[in-house]
This record gives sequence, structure tokens and C-alpha cells, in this order.
Amino acid sequence: MITKCFKNDKEDIKQAAVILKNGGLVAFPTETVYGLGANAFDETAVLNIFKAKGRPADNPLIVHIYSENQLSEIVSEIPKKAKILMDKFWPGPLTIVMKKSDNIPNIVSAGLNTVAVRMPVNETAFNLLKECNLPIAAPSANTSGKPSPTTFKHVFEDMNGKIDAVIDGGNCEVGVESTVIDLTEDIPMLLRPGGITLEQLIETLGEVKCAYEYKDGTIPKSPGMKYKHYAPKAKVIVVRGNLQKYINKHCNNYNKIGILSYNNINLPNNAVYKFFGNNSREYASNLFKYLREFDELGVDVIFAEDIDDKGINLAVRNRLYKSAGYTIAEE
Ligand code: TXA
Ligand code: MG
Repeated sequence: MITKCFKNDKEDIKQAAVILKNGGLVAFPTETVYGLGANAFDETAVLNIFKAKGRPADNPLIVHIYSENQLSEIVSEIPKKAKILMDKFWPGPLTIVMKKSDNIPNIVSAGLNTVAVRMPVNETAFNLLKECNLPIAAPSANTSGKPSPTTFKHVFEDMNGKIDAVIDGGNCEVGVESTVIDLTEDIPMLLRPGGITLEQLIETLGEVKCAYEYKDGTIPKSPGMKYKHYAPKAKVIVVRGNLQKYINKHCNNYNKIGILSYNNINLPNNAVYKFFGNNSREYASNLFKYLREFDELGVDVIFAEDIDDKGINLAVRNRLYKSAGYTIAEE
């Protein structure tokens, strides 16, 4: 299959919408990461998303919309708290899990009786969703297990030859995926931290339970939690405490080391350095990009400096720990 590269203009977005309406797959930018979209009502098209990504069939997809009017054909009820969140944070990086309507095929929700819905704020995503006027099921547009794509190039590396088209919308602003919150039970449950912070959710809703850490052997609240995620080819080690000391101690055990840090480091000869950023927004927009760049540089290990859990850092840290398979060193 030849993957078409579309520009971010009216004519190309029209063509992309036609592909989606005809059951094809189109990757498109959102404010968080690039998504790989298909018509959510078309089971065959959705099945092709799972094939292109190599995604496990029990991991459900997020349905993307441009207007709240579309909700009536996607969910069976809109909880009061969901309406409050939509009014405040939509369009934006917040995904809300609600009870599913029968119109949404089981393949989208991976057999669950709930469905995750999000309204992106990115203009290209909005224009595309409006043009096709269909709910679009879209996971992140990466090969399953790899870091999510935040640039056109990342999508092309993973998906060229496997999907119908990609829209080049430049770099994604946030850089980590949307916050996922489940509102199907009495107390709202945070399933994945993201661009809308836990602090913002608590301020808006009062009590919010955190259910985004998965413990082996339990049934995860969100199926995606139990899979290896965001992993570059290199082994990732999160370093808590004195990174310089850790590097000095361990640098001779590796051929080439990638160092992700927000401090000045005395680099050994076999290390390459990337500056994590000046604040949590920069950490978020750099993390996935740098994990991929370290792979291109051929490092065999990445030492990443630990961060706190305030604001968007909670999401960045969650992705970082997962990419490390929770390998955390104390120094
Ligand atoms: O920012 C984002 O959310 C991006 C862009 C493209 O919108 N999408 C994205 O999709 O990150 P994906 O498929 O990579 O992650 C979706 C997450 C998974 O962890 C999945 O398990 C969870 O949402 N999820 C989807 N439907 C769910 C449901 N009904 N109940 C619980 N978790 C659900
Ligand atoms: Mg993903």
C-alpha cells in the first residue's frame, strides 16, 4: 500500500475525509500526539487499525468528535459530572469514559460496555472530524509498544505502507496523550494522567480516585495499562537522586549512553546528552521525541533523571516509568 502524505490545507483535508468515509485509515495531528483514525461505526476499518499498529485486541480505542451533538449516537447516558468536565475542558486533552451506546461496535470498546470519548482542540483534527462528520476511533499512530508519535516523521517511520494517508500537521503541542477519566461509577477515576492535570480535575469535581498504576495479576481498570508502553529500543533507567554520581559509577558498563536530564552534566566520552526542558510543559513535549532520537543515535541505554508528580509532570513521569518498565535506580 502506498501511504499518501497530505498537507494541512482545506483540499487535502477534504480528501482525507473521503478516505475515512470509505473505510480507510488516516493518521492526523492532535494537540497531544498523532492519532490513527478510522470510522468508529465501520468494524472492518477499525480492525485495520489494530492490524496496522499490531495492537492487542483487548485494548479499546478512543472515539474522537468535533461536536457534543455527536454524543447521542456514541454513549447511552451523559453523567452530570461529564457535562461539567466537557464545559470546562473540551475541546482539549481530556478523554471521558462513559456507558456505550449499541451503535458503537464492540471492537472499538474491546468488548467493554463503556466507551472513551474525546474532543481534540487541534484545528486540523477539528477540521477533519467536521469534514467527515463521523465519530473517528483513533489510538496513537505508533506501532504498538513504541513511544507515541509527536511529529509527522514519527508517524511516517511507523506507518508508511500500512495506512492510506497521513496529514502533516507539524509538531504536537502537548506531547503526551490525553488524560483519561472514567465517570461510569460514583467516584470519578483517573485512568491515565495527561494534559489536563489531576489538580484541575480535583478542583472541578472534588474527589477523584487514582487508578492509573497497574499491579501485576489484577484486572486493570483500563486495559492499556497492562501492556509494555512507550519503549524505545534502548533500555531505560530512571535515576532518582544524584544523576552525575550514577553516571560516573556506571558509564563503563555500556557502549553508548543517552542522558536525559534538566541539569548540567559532566559527560563521559561514550554519552550523548539531551536537555529534558525548563518546565513540565517542555518535559512533556520533549519526552517521546527524545526517546526516539536516542534510538536513532544508537544508544544501548538511557539514563533519565526522575521528576516530581506536580501538574503535567504526573503524566510525563507515568510515561517515563512505563518506558523504563519501572526500572528505577536510587543514587
Ligand atoms: O491523546 C490521546 O488520547 C491520543 C490522541 C490520538 O487522541 N490517543 C491515544 O489513544 O492515546 P491510545 O489508544 O493510545 O490510548 C487510549 C487509552 C488506552 O490506555 C486504553 O486502554 C484506554 O485509553 N481506553 C480506551 N477506551 C477505554 C474504556 N472504555 N475504558 C477504559 N479505558 C479505555
Ligand atoms: Mg497509545
